[in-house]
Amino acid sequence: MFFHREGNACRWQNTLQGLDLDFTFGDDGSLPMGPLRFLGSQIQDDIAVLDQHEDALWLDAGLVTFAADWSFGFDVGMKFLEVHGPVPRVHEEQIIARAQQFLMRLQPGEKYRRTNWTMTVDRRLDTSTETYPEWARDRATVAEDPALPDRLHLRVEVQHLIRLPRPGAVLFLVRTHLLPLSDIARVPAWRERLGHVLAELPEDMAEYKGISRYRNAASAWLLAR
Ligand code: HEM
Repeated sequence: MFFHREGNACRWQNTLQGLDLDFTFGDDGSLPMGPLRFLGSQIQDDIAVLDQHEDALWLDAGLVTFAADWSFGFDVGMKFLEVHGPVPRVHEEQIIARAQQFLMRLQPGEKYRRTNWTMTVDRRLDTSTETYPEWARDRATVAEDPALPDRLHLRVEVQHLIRLPRPGAVLFLVRTHLLPLSDIARVPAWRERLGHVLAELPEDMAEYKGISRYRNAASAWLLAR
């Protein structure tokens, strides 16, 4: 991919897609399908845009295709604190309020990266609330399945938070990576680490992450090797 800009004249090339595009900075109509959809067609990450006003961040827009057990359609329009309403522990410990303060102080162009993890059965990326009937049953049955090490995946989200210089909004990008337990087990340090984390994770967090029915089976398999 190549990006070149002179004044407001921009050129974007994506050789994988055979795309060579001239567009004008500040003119949304010069991008096919508008800026948000176009961006979504060029990067692997899910995208959320949070505007800042009334001393809070608001989830105003996004293009989300790989939600991990939440619904963008339900959350859009909520404040940062409301979006995190279902997460256990983080409110008593003021983690989300402090994260919001940190994000609101990001200066134009500044960025920050964090990771988040959960688990997914098979290589399914879309585990949104909307598609719950398609994937929820697997969580209940995978613990008994001899194919568990190949079916169960550690799901890591690499999240970037970027303060956009012009509108001042915060861009939240989520890139999702999946790796089956059978591959994790090939690296002894990863196998041990994940095996212990799964064994020790407090029950409310395991329940929240949706892994409580298979985490002991997964941990036992990892640590027995
Ligand atoms: C600014 C953009 C962000 C957005 C739009 C966002 C959105 C979300 C959503 C939708 C969930 C799932 C909630 C549910 O279960 O319904 C979540 C989970 C979570 N978020 Fe954020 N988040 C953002 C940034 C952050 C930051 C900066 C932190 C740092 C503390 C954070 C911490 C967490 C934690 C700890 C969870 C629980 C995840 C788990 O244990 O599986 N988030 N977030």
